[in-house]
Amino acid sequence: MATIVGGILTSHVPAIGRAIALELQQDPYWKPFFDGFPPVREWLARQRPDVVVVFYNDHGLNFFLDKMPTFAIGAAPSYSNADEGWGIPQVPAFKGEQTLSWHLIEALVAHEFDPVTCQEMLVDHAFTLPMALLWPDQQWPVTVVPVNINTVQFPLPSAKRCYDLGATIGQAVRNWDSSKRVAFLGTGGLSHQLDGERAGFINKNFDLEFMDSLVKEPRWATQFSIHQLVELAGTQGIELLMWLATRGALGEHVREVHRNYHIPISNTASGVQLLEPVA
Ligand code: DHB
Ligand code: FE
Repeated sequence: MATIVGGILTSHVPAIGRAIALELQQDPYWKPFFDGFPPVREWLARQRPDVVVVFYNDHGLNFFLDKMPTFAIGAAPSYSNADEGWGIPQVPAFKGEQTLSWHLIEALVAHEFDPVTCQEMLVDHAFTLPMALLWPDQQWPVTVVPVNINTVQFPLPSAKRCYDLGATIGQAVRNWDSSKRVAFLGTGGLSHQLDGERAGFINKNFDLEFMDSLVKEPRWATQFSIHQLVELAGTQGIELLMWLATRGALGEHVREVHRNYHIPISNTASGVQLLEPVA
């Protein structure tokens, strides 16, 4: 059976792509953010996952407002990104783990989730930049399964629904008849709001309580409705749903291996958290 090595949670902001391209990692503005990643990379070098299941939210590159699935899962042989208009350089394509994709799709449908299955799929900055933070040489040593959750167009799936989606995926990975080592990556958040009257909104107290809850009381955030979460974390802070799905995939108990929290990068409170399942 496959082994789950852990889950990595991180923010994604297009400006990270420019900072990487301009090699600004030691710049005073960027250093507190980039310094959050070497411990994660050291952990990856020790754990050597073969596959990464990535929970992320597309921002209009693959799905636009005309067709917006609540949950979509990639089952493609490879995934590329494309120009999103942020001026971020493109990265090499990612190889898909198609056997696991179909295993997860079958498990999800059997458990009454109805994901859109994508045999072609572009992946945007929410996927590519966290991967580039984990593997800066961009010679991806892993295959991938993208899992997309709508946070762009209302109505959005509830926090509980996202947690349960992750839990079903985690259980299916544990049952996968493979000797491969699987990591989860959840990208988005933490608190930020890019538009409207509260543009620039950040809620440090909530972010830290949320990060704590993932270790101590993982379903804590499921008490809140989507509108309450938007109030607490901002219209784009709702991307924390990716963190909840990832946490669900890790099973009942985890230990925190590493965390970093820094305000702001661009308009976003950036968090990095590394969790390992505990039997
Ligand atoms: C920013 C944050 C995001 O999550 C995103 O998808 C785009 C931009 C930002 O803070 O600039
Ligand atoms: Fe985003």
